Amino acid sequence: MKHLLKLQDLSREEIIDILNLADQLKFERKNNIPHPILQGKTLGMIFQKSSTRTRVSFEAGMYQLGGNALFLSNRDLQIGRGELVQDTARVLSRYIDAIMIRTYSQDEVEYLAEYGTIPVINGLTDYAHPCQVLADLMTIREIKGGFHGRKLAFIGDGNNMANSLIVGCIKVGMSISIGCPKEYMPDSEIVAWARENGDFTCTEDIYEAARGADAVYTDVWASMGQEEESQKRRRDFAGYTVDDKLLECAKKDVTVLHCLPAHRGEEITAEVLEKHADEIFEEAENRLHAQKAVLVKLMAPDYTKDED
Ligand code: CP
Ligand code: NVA
Repeated sequence: MKHLLKLQDLSREEIIDILNLADQLKFERKNNIPHPILQGKTLGMIFQKSSTRTRVSFEAGMYQLGGNALFLSNRDLQIGRGELVQDTARVLSRYIDAIMIRTYSQDEVEYLAEYGTIPVINGLTDYAHPCQVLADLMTIREIKGGFHGRKLAFIGDGNNMANSLIVGCIKVGMSISIGCPKEYMPDSEIVAWARENGDFTCTEDIYEAARGADAVYTDVWASMGQEEESQKRRRDFAGYTVDDKLLECAKKDVTVLHCLPAHRGEEITAEVLEKHADEIFEEAENRLHAQKAVLVKLMAPDYTKDED
């Protein structure tokens, strides 16, 4: 694994390997066992959109691994004044050891990887959010004990989260169903791939989507960059709220997940969010552990536990 650009690029084994290392790093952190695996290494973090979890978990994660992280906002970088990402990639490659980028276009992330000589991590694009889904899979495995025979239902916009969840769930052998309005389907190539490669359904009927689900997942109706569509989307997604009635269709011990930030009263009710807060905030915590595993895999690929 040279980069983390999208989950399509990872094999099932690579995903499981990351999750296993994430579990180990979580255990070590909980038990105050230091793991300075990335001593002397620097991660550059380019943000063209806002972030709480991604920014803080990557920055804290690098620190905990003995390295250093640079927050590079669009406002301060020359990228914000039109310098090409291709040039930025070649410059940063000479100073630092890896780049994490959060931006709009997936192409920009792929260009960074193509033109740079260091690992690139996708910290969210309009197309994908692979770091979040690694943390989601880690959380599901932690709570449910495994993936086999498990079903995840995603309710809402067929956005970056839906795209990455489809790929992630199918890669690890879970079933996935999407409940979304027809005009808001996930990426058509991902849908076609999912139909070929796994147990995948997509329906406008959210009750059908949630039937028998082990995990129900939702995300905002208007993603970053779609703020001006918020009102229209509120109308279009009416009836697509994860509430107690919907959860009655799922398994009794259903886990509710949300990548956050959440809009209570829109994609999820305040009641459901609070009832499932332990799961949702464990999921947020797991961003830290899963990303640290990704950082180790990319920046210290030869690391094994015995080297500690
Ligand atoms: N879930 C997530 O990526 O959160 P942030 O936007 O706060 O980074
Ligand atoms: N779909 C959301 C996810 C935020 C983590 C967005 O792109 O804004």
